[in-house]
Amino acid sequence: RMPILEQCYNLMDFEAVARSVMKKTAWAYYSSGADDEITMRENHNAFHKIWFRPRVLEDVEHVDTSTTMLGAKVSMPFYVTATALGKLGNPEGEVILTRGAKKHNVIQMIPTLASCSFDEICDAAEDGQVQWLQLYVNKDRAVTKRIVEHAEKRGCKGLFITVDAPQLGRREKDMRSKFDDVGSNVQSSSGDDVDRSQGAARAISSFIDPSLSWKDIPWFLEITKMPIILKGVQRVEDVIRAIEAGVHGVVLSNHGGRQLDFARSGIEVLAEVMPVLRERNWQDRIEIYIDGGVRRATDIIKALCLGAKGVGIGRPFLYAMSAYGLPGVDRAMQLLKDEMEMNMRLIGCSSVSDLNPTLIDTRGLGMH
Ligand code: FNR
Repeated sequence: RMPILEQCYNLMDFEAVARSVMKKTAWAYYSSGADDEITMRENHNAFHKIWFRPRVLEDVEHVDTSTTMLGAKVSMPFYVTATALGKLGNPEGEVILTRGAKKHNVIQMIPTLASCSFDEICDAAEDGQVQWLQLYVNKDRAVTKRIVEHAEKRGCKGLFITVDAPQLGRREKDMRSKFDDVGSNVQSSSGDDVDRSQGAARAISSFIDPSLSWKDIPWFLEITKMPIILKGVQRVEDVIRAIEAGVHGVVLSNHGGRQLDFARSGIEVLAEVMPVLRERNWQDRIEIYIDGGVRRATDIIKALCLGAKGVGIGRPFLYAMSAYGLPGVDRAMQLLKDEMEMNMRLIGCSSVSDLNPTLIDTRGLGMH
């Protein structure tokens, strides 16, 4: 029996409902991780290794969860990250996420492989609503250039280049479901022969350029004025390289555990990265984001205490959208907001700028 929306009390609840109502192939595509799914599970579990050191007797009558991301003011320190094929979960697709993001004044990252067209997703946004573009770099750079220029013209405020997917990971759940209905325009527009027996992910991704390298970064900086962020960085050496390359941000991410199994969680990599940047006094030279396994406001708060500017959230909004449409996405965001306010109050912080490393105990990460 499907619970009513009001019976969803946290982000995990949407997952259970989505699983019971979604088509098998759609569920397989959204929920799968690479290989043994160890990284996918660890993404959330890693947050359990960090504990709070709350302050008391701070005035927390008024709590402000707002912050900025790449210069844009947002009401909460998370964004809707890019997830492909929104129409697998809901016939309206990604525009539902656009409307939810609008209502709560958070940013949506538009995927290259969206089910709706890029313009449909831009058109669904209201004046002033901030959107970013997630970019899979095409082997044909003229195609990539057109996509980037068009996004800039449409007002996108950030270009997130995915760097953790030179080849799509093996998501066996997805492969087994013998995906045969992309239900989107991406496959025809990529123009390749697709092997449907390899699952949804591989069927639509054959255009991605595995030769993409650091040498290409100057070209991207030349062709756009949008800030450039590398999505999928996984070690401090590459964060330093990104800063030296002149990009504006990185997302410490393992693609929701869908690429390299045994990649470390974003939160764990963040704990490795921040002390090194602070040692060089480089922490303000780049904006650091993480994603993967963020399910509770406490997860978000831990990431911000460590030094992240914000976090991306993927599957929970897909599940909320698949189970309940826009009201589901709305409620998921409202639940996060309520959790955020309460937990900031309980650790003695009335604004996001109060969050700092002294408020957490990271000894459980075993890095000391
Ligand atoms: C993704 N992700 C992703 N990333 C990307 O750069 N391009 C893409 O097309 C997609 N597509 C995609 C589809 C689905 C169904 C999922 C679940 C994820 C990865 C995504 O941006 C993000 O890194 C993770 O989803 C974060 O982990 P959580 O929040 O899903 O645990």
